[in-house]
Amino acid sequence: MPLVTTKEMFKKAYEGGYAIGAFNVNNMEIIQGITEAAKEVNAPLILQVSAGARRYANHTYLMKLVEAAEIETKLPICLHLDHGDSFEICKACIDGGFTSVMIDGSHLPFEENIKLTKQVVDYAHAHGVVVEGELGRLAGVEDDVKVSEEESSYTKPEEVEEFVARTGVDSLAIAIGTSHGAYKFKGEPKLRFDILEEVARRLPGFPIVLHGASSVIPELVEKINKYGGNMPGARGVPEEMLRKAARSAVCKINIDSDLRLAMTATIREYLAQHPDHFDPRQYLKPAREAIKELVKHKIVHVLGCDGKA
Ligand code: G3H
Ligand code: 13P
Ligand code: ZN
Repeated sequence: MPLVTTKEMFKKAYEGGYAIGAFNVNNMEIIQGITEAAKEVNAPLILQVSAGARRYANHTYLMKLVEAAEIETKLPICLHLDHGDSFEICKACIDGGFTSVMIDGSHLPFEENIKLTKQVVDYAHAHGVVVEGELGRLAGVEDDVKVSEEESSYTKPEEVEEFVARTGVDSLAIAIGTSHGAYKFKGEPKLRFDILEEVARRLPGFPIVLHGASSVIPELVEKINKYGGNMPGARGVPEEMLRKAARSAVCKINIDSDLRLAMTATIREYLAQHPDHFDPRQYLKPAREAIKELVKHKIVHVLGCDGKA
C-alpha cells in the first residue's frame, strides 16, 4: 500500500470516537519503534516530520525510512509535515512525496493566515495532498520557535467557520491550553474543553487536531532525573484528558516529547548500568523497544485506534 492521506483515517476516527496518533520522527530507531507498535495492535499511523527533523535527518533519508516501514508493516501510514511555516517548505514536502502538510500560520494576523493557508491548500489539493491549518497559538518550545505564555492564545471559536470555508483546509489545529515540550503546566493541568466543544459545534464532522499532547510520563522523568538528568517541574497532559479529547471531534493527537523522554530515559539508564559498553546498538535497541512499548500504550489506552488499520 502506498503512503495514504488522512482523509479516510479521519472520517473513520470522527465517526468511531477515537483519534489517530501523530508521532514525530527523525531517525531509524524511532520510526521502527513506532511502526512495530502500530503493526502489533493494527493501528493506522501518522508519522510527522518537523522542519528541524527534516534538516537533521535529510528529506530523502526520512522518506526512504518511512517507505521501508510501510513495506514492512503494510499499514496505512500518512507522512505529514509538522508546523510548516512557509509555502516553500510545504511545496518541497508535497513535491517530495509527503501525503499531508501542516501550514502553521497561527502567528500571523487572521487575514494573512488565511492567505498563506489557502495558497498551500491550492497547491496541495492539486497534488492529492491534504492540509492541516492552525488557529490560536500554543505556548512552548520547538526547534525553530519559542512561544512564551504571554504570546500564546486560545483559538477563537467565532473564527473557525470562516477560516475553514475560505482556506479549504482538511483539518484544523486549535489551541485549548496544551503547549509544546516537557513543561506544560505550572499549576494544575487545565484544558479549555468548552472551546473544543464550541469549535466542534460550529464545524460538524470536521477533524480537529490537538498539538502539545504528550503526558510527560512521570516515571520517565523520574528515570531521567535518577540517572543524571535534571528536569524538575516537567509536566504534561493527564491521560484522562487526552482520552476525553480522543472521543470528541479531535481526530489527530500529536506526540513528540514523550518519545524523546522514553528514548533518553532508556539510554541514560542503560549507560549508567553498563559503563563499559560503547556499541550504539547496545543502547539503541532498548531505546527502540521503549518507544515501541510507549506507542502501544498510547494507541490502546489513550487514542483508542487499535484494530482500526
Ligand atoms: O511541535 C513540535 C515538535 O515537537 C517538533 O519539535 O521542531 O524540535 O523538531 P522540533
Ligand atoms: P509534545 O511536545 O507535547 O509532544 O507536542 C508535539 C507536537 O505538538 C508536535 O507538533
Ligand atoms: Zn505541534
